Amino acid sequence: MKPYALLILLLVFFNCKNESSKHIETSDESYKIETKINNILSKMTLEEKIGQTNLRGTSSRVKGELPEELKTAVRKGEIGAFLNVMNLEYVKELQKIAIEESPNGIPLIFARDVIHGFKTIFPIPLGLAASWDAEIAKKSSEIAAFEASSAGIRWTFAPMLDIARDSRWGRIAESPGEDPYLASILGKAYVEGFQSDDLSNPTSMAACAKHYIGYGAAIGGRDYNTVNLSEPLLRNLYLPPFQSSIDAGAATVMSSFNEVNGIPATGNEFLLKQVLRDELQFDGFIVSDWDSTVEMITHGFARDEKHVAELSAIAGLDMEMTSKAYEHHLKTLVEEGKVSVKQIDAFVKNILRIKLRLNLFEQPYIPEGHTGNLYAEAHLSEAKKAAIKSTVLLKNDAILPLANTAKVAVIGPLANKPHEQLGTWTFDGEKKHTVTPTDAFKKANVKFQFAEGLTHSRDRTNKGFNEAIRIAKNADVIVFFGGEEAILSGEAHSRANIDLPGAQEQLLKELAKTGKPIVLVIMAGRPITIANIIDDVDAVLMAWHPGTMGGEALHDIIFGLSQPEGHLPVSWPKTAGQLPYFYNHKNTGRPAEADQFVQMDSIPIAAWQSSLGNDSHYLDVGYAPHFPFGYGLTYTDFKYENITVSQDTISFNKDITIKASITNTGKNDGKELVQLYVQDVVGSITRPIRELKRFKHVNLKSGETKEVSFTMSSEDLKFVNSKLINAAEEGVFNVWIAPHAEAGLKSSFYLKE
Ligand code: BGC
Repeated sequence: MKPYALLILLLVFFNCKNESSKHIETSDESYKIETKINNILSKMTLEEKIGQTNLRGTSSRVKGELPEELKTAVRKGEIGAFLNVMNLEYVKELQKIAIEESPNGIPLIFARDVIHGFKTIFPIPLGLAASWDAEIAKKSSEIAAFEASSAGIRWTFAPMLDIARDSRWGRIAESPGEDPYLASILGKAYVEGFQSDDLSNPTSMAACAKHYIGYGAAIGGRDYNTVNLSEPLLRNLYLPPFQSSIDAGAATVMSSFNEVNGIPATGNEFLLKQVLRDELQFDGFIVSDWDSTVEMITHGFARDEKHVAELSAIAGLDMEMTSKAYEHHLKTLVEEGKVSVKQIDAFVKNILRIKLRLNLFEQPYIPEGHTGNLYAEAHLSEAKKAAIKSTVLLKNDAILPLANTAKVAVIGPLANKPHEQLGTWTFDGEKKHTVTPTDAFKKANVKFQFAEGLTHSRDRTNKGFNEAIRIAKNADVIVFFGGEEAILSGEAHSRANIDLPGAQEQLLKELAKTGKPIVLVIMAGRPITIANIIDDVDAVLMAWHPGTMGGEALHDIIFGLSQPEGHLPVSWPKTAGQLPYFYNHKNTGRPAEADQFVQMDSIPIAAWQSSLGNDSHYLDVGYAPHFPFGYGLTYTDFKYENITVSQDTISFNKDITIKASITNTGKNDGKELVQLYVQDVVGSITRPIRELKRFKHVNLKSGETKEVSFTMSSEDLKFVNSKLINAAEEGVFNVWIAPHAEAGLKSSFYLKE
């Protein structure tokens, strides 16, 4: 057998492995790594050390010869890593120069934003979050790493772990949603998938937990905007997913663009040194976001580029992405005594540690024969599974699933848009491999006619309406694929209105006049407000941007070959005016309740000023979201009964078990996502009205009942209070076993010191 044939077998083996447990570095291994680091460091000049902190960007697809200037810089040891070198020959050539010609032969790392798939594209991260399924999140990132590593990429800028409470923010599409517990579970799973059980595996990628931190709290959902966070909120809400990904071994962390309480994250010593290094014990390297160093000048925090370098170095930033403050000024700053060599050594050690863990010194090149199995059947089938698990059924007036004999009018601007359904951050997924809904309907011999009605999601004309109405009249049912094009969410793509863009609502209203039932399928990077048209349609499926296999997944759901399995990872607002909105809010002194809800039209004309009897809500839209966090229907119904707690009083560190019976009362078998929420009724700082603590998927046959139980302890009830103490507090706790954040069976217990 040729040596590389054995390697391919090994790679296939790695790719097929489902379960991988994180490789825990033994003290012997880490001793060896630290010894190597010190050995290399002792031979490096200051210039080479600074070179390691330099992450150089190239345009995605450099054409022609590799620029001589780049080769020379690598030869001199002036560059530590590259992003977006998407040409195999260049990857090889640059690495060869680094290994064979640079002063200490330190390998480069090649990075890219492989966010939800490389070639095989999975649902956008917000969609994957709707699966509430760590296994599928892990599988998606394992496949992404296997494919991308065949292009030499051993470092991805993912997972994005920003808690997002405002659907106007374009980057909500990349986020794990609004809940820290769910985000922590997903963060760990992504890291385990990207990094496999051992980073030295050549088909793994180093993960990058980003954007550290608070980026999702941008004012008004405007990207890059100011962030003010009290320290308890920072620690209770925004930090947990980072903690969990670091505990899972995340190799790198990216500092965010935003400031936190007046200090940009990239120059924030408290965040980078105290919290990340000292408290979370992070031992990989920290990279800035694209230009987030030099943007500290625009923020009004740094005077000039030299000051940027000084502030970033003091804060503890190891590597700079694309901008060149370190390259231009670190040496002078050392000479002037403003930055110590010890500090720079610390940066280089952090970077070399990851290069060694990636085994790049021993295996700097793409292993021969590693093709990545791009778009392999197994990858596509996982992508389809993920899209099914991510799709949320929001409404169903007994129309879905459709009979396979139904005559369908397929209408809408996203029914056959292979690029759009891939979503944001999909540089490498190709249209020609994407299965759209019309492709899937054709393949399955569905009886359908197709008229777009609108050429793209923002189309405001009604030119296509007549044809769409004509085919609708000939059909039994209309399936409308609408939503947002990929470019309307993601970085720098916030929206003030988050309704269906263009003339989609008008078209739906016209179609409703035909009297034919309508199934609305939304593909979008965020919740879309549909209060204006919800009564005109009979069913609503939220597919997010479902990726390469979205069409097949939706076909199977619509015709009942699979059930929609997703549940909302974010609250779904009625109108953008309710944002930010999140289920885990505080009670306030005047919490909103249905019987105290004053509606605008009920206020007498020329009414006297009075607030009495009123509460915290909007006169026009009330206080509740359109669909709550955790919500998602299936093709059957479930009944929750008999909640019990194992003890009325528990002491610290003792377990408590909460149980309820769940029955499938519908005709179909099904899967329910059972959620456990807790409220700490009185706290030394006020606590949210509910917090998710556990969840479980439960399969139930029609008519079947199962007892579902959850166990937790005072560890799960801890929070950081105003004195910054992380502890559970004695008192009453309410607990719910629930189908979503606004329902459920309630009980309570007392936690006693
Ligand atoms: C984004 C990051 C991304 C980086 C590199 C930045 O604009 O904020 O999320 O990883 O670019 O592409």
